[in-house]
Amino acid sequence: MVVDAGGLVEQSKDITTVKHANNRVRYANKPIKKSNRWCKKRRRKVVFPRVREVLRLQQLFVSCREIFKGHGTVPPASDVNKLCNILDKMKPGDVGLSKNQFFKAAGAAIGTHPRVTYTTIYQCSEFSLCIFFLPEKAVIPLHNHPGMTVFSKLLLGTMHIKSYDWVHPKHSMPSSRMRLARLKANGVYTAPCDTSVLYPTTGGNMHEFKAMTPCAVLDVIGPPYSKQEGRDCSYYKDYPYGDGETTAVREEEGECLGWLEEIQVPEEAEMDRIQYLGPQIIQNTTTC
Ligand SMILES: [Fe+2]
Repeated sequence: MVVDAGGLVEQSKDITTVKHANNRVRYANKPIKKSNRWCKKRRRKVVFPRVREVLRLQQLFVSCREIFKGHGTVPPASDVNKLCNILDKMKPGDVGLSKNQFFKAAGAAIGTHPRVTYTTIYQCSEFSLCIFFLPEKAVIPLHNHPGMTVFSKLLLGTMHIKSYDWVHPKHSMPSSRMRLARLKANGVYTAPCDTSVLYPTTGGNMHEFKAMTPCAVLDVIGPPYSKQEGRDCSYYKDYPYGDGETTAVREEEGECLGWLEEIQVPEEAEMDRIQYLGPQIIQNTTTC
């Protein structure tokens, strides 16, 4: 089944609209023309972002600017807690999504895999704020975040998340590209839920998202991917740890382990980018 997705958000007199269109998520950059009859029926469903919703995104942005210091740095625990406290309170409306109107079933798609859509709220060399939209059954394949700290806040939907960290010291299977990893998470998460955080070497630096229902995830990434600074994205396939095991991992000494093999960029990793037209952040003259 493909998914029509979209929310409807209008910002004061300068209307910004987020609406489902065809089979993709769309932010429409002009008001939707509607008949008087439509207005009468729908008037009560139009959502105006409240001041506190705009402020939450602004608070997140300002905190990110204070906290993320760029390449080779990891925020201290106090700053991680500060960002988590902000993100834990964030709701779909804070980034221009309406829960009631965000996703709408649109029929079956035959022979196609659901594509992920994303939008960037803000990006600089120290951090980025992005939203990923996953239709039902869409997958963001197992991938890494080298040297990065990533906060993920599931805003809408239910998804299965599996994540790994490398086992140190580096432990590789002889004569192969397999490397041993420790399973960090392997479970189902439903919004609203707490923010998850991954670090360069802990917290599940390699992760995979599988949408069980249409999902929206807000990611705060610091610093963002950069080939120039050695933070390119790699993709992996996981294999059972033990010989003849049929499960993905085997419990060993209280830990779940698996072998990860780096693979070419899978087809499911291709995403469509859309412009962000939700509540805007306000930048002062000091840019990061
Ligand atoms: Fe990721």
